Parts: sequence; structure tokens; C-alpha cells
Amino acid sequence: MESSTKGGGILGEGAREDRERVVEMLKKAYWMEIETVMSYIANSINPDGIRAREITESLEKDIQEELGHAQQFGKRIKELYGAVPGSAEFSSEQSFLQPPEDQTDLIHIVRGVIEAESGAIDFYNEIIEFCADRDPVTEDMVVTILADEEGHRRLFEGFLRELETD
Ligand SMILES: [Fe+2]
Ligand SMILES: [Fe+2]
Repeated sequence: MESSTKGGGILGEGAREDRERVVEMLKKAYWMEIETVMSYIANSINPDGIRAREITESLEKDIQEELGHAQQFGKRIKELYGAVPGSAEFSSEQSFLQPPEDQTDLIHIVRGVIEAESGAIDFYNEIIEFCADRDPVTEDMVVTILADEEGHRRLFEGFLRELETD
């Protein structure tokens, strides 16, 4: 009797509460990725000026990566017996990444990207911490995604340094 409630790891009946908590975190991460895709599309198209190209090209490349992250989060939600939420559940949070009034204001965009990436880095570290000893598969997946976000942040920190010295 005891063993049947203990088997199955994170998919086992005994792990229901932990599993539901992981699914909730994965849904939040999914929405963060989706919103990042929206913000990066806008900011990869809108900017004007000679300096804009490097930033818009970089964002364009990131869109595909963030979309891939959203898909990975979605698939893991389903594996954990959850369901990927519909668009009606979306609510925006990236006030700092709205397109600037002045489309040559690259610093605004670069700072917004750094804030978005930093938010993802903080939250994915939380997921990793919760999943340690509970759900090694989710932990492993999020560690890989975290590495991408750290790379994105580092790249944009370099852009910011350059823009601020001018
Ligand atoms: Fe991402
Ligand atoms: Fe990212």
C-alpha cells in the first residue's frame, strides 16, 4: 500500500502536490516566454537608425529561441498531466519592454531586454531549486534554458555598455 503511493517519482500519486506546483511554475514560465516573443518581435522591427541593426538582428534570432523555450515548457506541462493554457489566460507584465516613443531610443530597448532576461533568470533559478530532489527532468530542462537566458543577458549587457559610452 505504502509503496504504491511512493512510486513513480514526480508522476506518482504521492507526488501530486509537488507536481501541481511544478505545473503552475511551468505555466508562468510559458507566459513569460510568450510575452518575450511578442516584445522581441516589436522591438526587432520598430527601431530606426544606423545603430539599430545589430540589436534588431540579435532580437530576431532570440525570437526563435524564446519560442522554442515556450514549446519546451508547454510539452513539460503536458507530461506532468497538465494542459497548456489558452490565450484568454494571458496577462502582460513586461511594462518595461513596451516600444519607446522615440524609435531611435536603443538604450530603452536594451535595458528592457536585460530586465526581461534577468526576470527569467531569477524565476528559472527558483524552478530549478524547487525541482531539485523532486523532478530532475524539469530541473535538467530548465538548466539548459537558463543557460540560453544568461547568454542573452550577457550579450545585451555588452550592447548597453557600448551605447552608454557614446
Ligand atoms: Fe527564453
Ligand atoms: Fe532570453
